[in-house]
Amino acid sequence: MTTISVALGARSYDVRIEPGLLARAGEVLAPLSRGRPMPIVTDTNLAAHCETLVASLAAAGVSAPVLTLPAGESTKSWAQLEALTDWLLAQGVVRSDHVIALGGGVIGDLVGFATSILKRGCNFVQIPTTLLAQVDSSVGGKTAINSKAGKNLIGAFHQPAVVLIDPQVLDTLPQRELRAGYAEVAKYGLIDDAGFFAWCEGNAAALFAGDPQARAHAIGHSVAAKARIVAADERETTGTRALLNLGHTFGHALEAETGFSDKLLHGEAVAAGMALAFAFSAEQGLCPAEDAARVAAHLRAVGLPDGLAAAGVTADGATLVGHMLHDKKMEGSTLPFLLARAIGRTYLDKTVDLEKVAAFLDGQTA
Ligand SMILES: NC(=O)c1ccc[n+]([C@@H]2O[C@H](COP(=O)([O-])OP(=O)(O)OC[C@H]3O[C@@H](n4cnc5c(N)ncnc54)[C@H](O)[C@@H]3O)[C@@H](O)[C@H]2O)c1
Ligand SMILES: [Zn+2]
Repeated sequence: MTTISVALGARSYDVRIEPGLLARAGEVLAPLSRGRPMPIVTDTNLAAHCETLVASLAAAGVSAPVLTLPAGESTKSWAQLEALTDWLLAQGVVRSDHVIALGGGVIGDLVGFATSILKRGCNFVQIPTTLLAQVDSSVGGKTAINSKAGKNLIGAFHQPAVVLIDPQVLDTLPQRELRAGYAEVAKYGLIDDAGFFAWCEGNAAALFAGDPQARAHAIGHSVAAKARIVAADERETTGTRALLNLGHTFGHALEAETGFSDKLLHGEAVAAGMALAFAFSAEQGLCPAEDAARVAAHLRAVGLPDGLAAAGVTADGATLVGHMLHDKKMEGSTLPFLLARAIGRTYLDKTVDLEKVAAFLDGQTA
């Protein structure tokens, strides 16, 4: 078992990573239950994993009522938040209880937010089941639902009590979802760890083939990176946590252009966005062209989009920049961008000229 602690003073918690952990979750979680039930919230694609979890809790003497919500992004809604909080209240949940989120980022974000407001805040446990949730969304305490005005606009910071990661649950995850989550793994290397990016280049094939060691290393390294960044800047006030948004401003424009639909998954948009951030940095003379080419080549090698064309986006620069202006990271009239000096050396630039960005994007589609 690898244990990584997220050091946040009174809100500190452990992330435990171990193949087969889901079947042993009961013994790990029983001390937290203190004789009380632990309600599980999951989605319709996770029935088999949920059975494993319920059986493990039962064997440890913990009863676990289950609420199964529809799979998909549309579950991060006011309607499902209401359904979930009504159900938790009907279960008689009190503030010291722990609610389990078993699923990807959708279930984790929804349950995290619901428990941040239920009885003015109760506890929750993350058991992430997608690669994206294991390496990114389950750690760090950002929780949210979507509103008509945009994604993740209604939410709270609410840290889990513990995160349990079983890399084996990824065996049932569709390859496309695995690839999309992998974009966030490679991101940690590109942000500030060139050595890890080189590891990714050498080991991605093994990871995709299901090699348990490659998966455990990628997850452990990513979680440790996220834990370090979150501990330094829990609420994204100093700029450190903003580094995690590498590729996300360009990516957000691509997601908006494709209607936040299955045409382009979040991780796919982030992959294309990271390639664009490096290409733009190279064009501006900030970063060696070889580094931008290396980023694009690795993303292509694992089957992720490496730019606008591969992401299936044909919109012009002005349209895409228009989408960026709706981004919640807008600060007055400037939009902070994460740019690169090299692989593993990214920084937040608040002086980027949006006309240059539009011209660069026009050059990409020409
Ligand atoms: N809180 C954060 O810090 C943070 C960070 C990044 C992303 N997010 C959010 O995460 C969400 C995306 O998360 P996601 O990519 O995990 O999507 P998701 O939760 O929708 O899961 C993707 C799909 O995989 C299915 N699935 C999950 N685990 C499975 C498994 N083991 N086997 C088979 N199928 C499985 C799900 O049912 C779903 O259909 C977005 O809403 C995004 O805003 C949050
Ligand atoms: Zn992301």
